[in-house]
Amino acid sequence: NKQEPLKVIISGAPASGKGTQCQLITQKYGLVHIAAGDLLRAEISSGSANGKRAKEYMEKGQLVPKEIVFMMVKERLLQSDSQENGWLLDGFPRRLSQATALKEIGFQPDIFILLEVAEDNLVERVVGRRLDPVTGRIYHLKYSPPETEEIAARLTQRCDDTEEMVKLRLQTHHQNVESVLSMYEDITIKINGNASKEDVFSQIDTALTTLIEQRNATLGSM
Ligand code: AP5
Repeated sequence: NKQEPLKVIISGAPASGKGTQCQLITQKYGLVHIAAGDLLRAEISSGSANGKRAKEYMEKGQLVPKEIVFMMVKERLLQSDSQENGWLLDGFPRRLSQATALKEIGFQPDIFILLEVAEDNLVERVVGRRLDPVTGRIYHLKYSPPETEEIAARLTQRCDDTEEMVKLRLQTHHQNVESVLSMYEDITIKINGNASKEDVFSQIDTALTTLIEQRNATLGSM
């Protein structure tokens, strides 16, 4: 009667809080966090040919070609820790062809979480976002300020985090979100992402707990 590990996709506009919620979800549920954007940024840092190609698209707020992103995501999903502990896929799939490719290799999520955040909030979140290169933690100058002066001094900013760039990224998001949603309609849960990060997490936490309880009940009745 062993529980299958959880398989989760989290989606939402740029800066809707996906990364922030993923840190909270992995802390509690032990899932392997696979973030398409993080994988791409690591590829760029490595200086590879794929990284160079990806960078051209990311700098324009456009989606990187599927063959590059899908290869990286697939490789990470197939690793044993993702298989054993379950996975939390963040920022993938972002268009219908990616969702189809995922399905074709047999990866079907249990739940599709969509974070809904008002556009004004998104812009404010983007321009105030800072990252700690040492711990990987996500901060915001106003909403999640760094705990110490030492951390504050080493924070970095993503180059696509300007008001102008976020508008382009948002456009890309709006062009594709409906088609991806159509693939996961029956397992989608919409979360109001405008609240504090703790409140947003508590909505997600309730959804995941409910899902686990339902699965336990089904197992128990077999
Ligand atoms: P990616 O890195 O995935 O960027 P994104 O989707 O734009 O999302 P972000 O990382 O900007 O935001 P987030 O939702 O994680 O928010 P966060 O928690 O940091 O993708 C970058 C690029 O890579 C794309 O543009 C594309 O080119 C390419 N790419 C990625 N995936 C791809 C794919 N599948 N196919 C093709 N190309 C792909 O929060 C944001 C800020 O708000 C932070 O400062 C945080 O502290 C703050 N905050 C969070 N929650 C709250 C809250 N509740 N209240 C107040 N502040 C909050």
